[in-house]
Amino acid sequence: MRKPVTLITGANGEIGHGLIAHLAGAGHQDIITLDLKPLDERLRPRVLSALVGDILDHNLLQRLVSEYEIHGIYHLAALLSTRSEYTPDTAHRVNVEGTLNLLTLAHEQSRWHGNPVTFLFPSSIAVYGLPDIATKEKAGRVRENDYNFPTTMYGCNKLYCEHLGRYFAKHYRQLAAERIPSGVDFRAIRFPGLISAVTVPAGGTSDYAPEMMHAAAQGKPYACFVSPEARLPFMAMPDAIKALTLLAAAPVGKLSQRSYNIGAFSLSAAEVRDRVIRAFPRAAISFEVDTARAAIVDTWPADVDDGPARRDWGWRPEFEADRAFNEYLFPMIGQFYRQQG
Ligand code: SER
Repeated sequence: MRKPVTLITGANGEIGHGLIAHLAGAGHQDIITLDLKPLDERLRPRVLSALVGDILDHNLLQRLVSEYEIHGIYHLAALLSTRSEYTPDTAHRVNVEGTLNLLTLAHEQSRWHGNPVTFLFPSSIAVYGLPDIATKEKAGRVRENDYNFPTTMYGCNKLYCEHLGRYFAKHYRQLAAERIPSGVDFRAIRFPGLISAVTVPAGGTSDYAPEMMHAAAQGKPYACFVSPEARLPFMAMPDAIKALTLLAAAPVGKLSQRSYNIGAFSLSAAEVRDRVIRAFPRAAISFEVDTARAAIVDTWPADVDDGPARRDWGWRPEFEADRAFNEYLFPMIGQFYRQQG
């Protein structure tokens, strides 16, 4: 008999690290992972099986479903926004075709075992595209349906995949002779910039905040690629994990939409720098603006309206800015680099 499991794609990434630690800590024993690289040794004992491979490899996905019965999917694999601009074709293949493969797999799995497959999808503030700084300042906390005009391949991919997920959940095979539900219970969270004390992101455009802090903790100088005034919403990683698991557990009847903003705090790059310098007074942080990357940040909102997430599934961040930096990021990052030796 095939074993019922939860599948996590892109498990080696930042969210994957936090999610696996959280799920395993909560006694969730049956996780299988898929990533291009071998799973981090520290996570390996926490999962049932760690597959190495590509979400674009149909044969691999078929082998996977021949061995396991999948009841939940956290589809985290993606190319982030800066990296996607360098290789937009590849980004489209990974971010869109990869997601389509996983949605189809979820549908087939549900048909097989007769239960819905919960499909958690990390979307992003990159789905927004504000036309200019004046509009960004005026817009304040944007709502899900405002300014959906992404200016990056990654943002376009995420917005389209939100639609694809909603389509699978509600309309897939609507003209088929047997009108049965697809069984794909798609749920997406639009994450702000995420900051973790134990991992650094790779290839994103909100990376300057975590990079600044990780450089300071290691005594390395850092040149920030956006201007001091650039402002984005950010969130500490434990809150991102909490949001994913809260949304996964919410009764479907409570969900008035399939894609949700979540917020925690909004900071300018100068405000992040000031906090980092208070914690690491010898930090050498300068600003060397990369115009192209900074322009992307200018199109993303300064903050988001997360009212629907609060109302529908009880979202509330644990970590506002002070708690995030003083009680999670700074203490944990210090400990992390001391352990690294
Ligand atoms: N943090 C991501 C990036 O910068 C946005 O979701 O690409």
